[in-house]
Amino acid sequence: GLVRKPANFISSISDDRGDELSYAGMPISEVFSADIGLGGVLSLLWFRRRLPDYATKFIEMILMVTADHGPAVSGAHNTIVTARAGKDLVSALCSGLLTIGPRFGGALDKAAEMFTQGADEGADAAEYVKRMRQQNKLIMGIGHRIKSLSNPDMRVTIIKEYALKHFKNNKVLDFALAVEQVTTKKRETLILNVDGCIAACFVDLLRSCGAFTQEEADELIANGCLNGMFVLGRSVGFIGHYLDQKRLKQPLYRHPWDDISYQSVN
Ligand code: ACO
Ligand code: LMR
Repeated sequence: GLVRKPANFISSISDDRGDELSYAGMPISEVFSADIGLGGVLSLLWFRRRLPDYATKFIEMILMVTADHGPAVSGAHNTIVTARAGKDLVSALCSGLLTIGPRFGGALDKAAEMFTQGADEGADAAEYVKRMRQQNKLIMGIGHRIKSLSNPDMRVTIIKEYALKHFKNNKVLDFALAVEQVTTKKRETLILNVDGCIAACFVDLLRSCGAFTQEEADELIANGCLNGMFVLGRSVGFIGHYLDQKRLKQPLYRHPWDDISYQSVN
């Protein structure tokens, strides 16, 4: 009989072979007739299943609140400098994306891990903050350059209030908020930031929405889907900055000498 050649490649999220493209088994026509939105498409392609409407709306909220935070942040700045050096859209976008990491926009996965660990072990927030300090570790998802108790971040308020209203469980968010209570006593900028708030809420969502076991939810988080959300959301803004610079016909950027402290080598 016929011996089937073993496949070199395995894929389980989409299929373009039949009459119709399908996402996780859902034909593209149904994606539209059921009106599942971008949040629904993301949940099919990233999590391979449909999630309840309140969950897909939350995914869309994440993409919306992370879409941009002005031209001054590392990623937008890089995108703008690259656009002004005459490079193409993909290069400018990649240049911006490459700044996403543990200090800027890429703290979500680690924040989820840290807040989940603290919440699961039932840690006392003050003890937890002390322990992290003793271990010389920053708490991911805490701290902001310009946002603070007196200049609160509306994005965090929007995300937090939605989670508190719609999610069946807020265990990880509650722990993150208890940590914020402690850290902001030390310094008013040590708030639960947008990365940290999204991360904590998303763990609560995946664990409590009924679509996953706790192990499945934790594996999805560990695989890096949360930093993926920031990358996806912020790409909207970076592309916007690239197009803006083209529209404004901005010339090559050169940083002014008077804004550089040239230190002499003795
Ligand atoms: N956990 C504990 N302590 C902290 C944290 C933290 N996450 N962040 C700052 N501190 C402490 C510092 O140890 C320092 O303490 P000291 O005065 O005793 O030395 C003090 O706060 C000031 O620290 P800076 O590094 O000067 O704070 P800065 O405002 O420059 O840093 C930053 C902001 C980069 C966001 C920082 O708070 C951080 O690394 N946070 C963790 C990573 C994170 O969540 N990044 C995402 C930010 S939101 C976004 O990018 C969309
Ligand atoms: C962002 O979303 O880019 C910010 O929270 C970071 C910043 O420094 O504004």
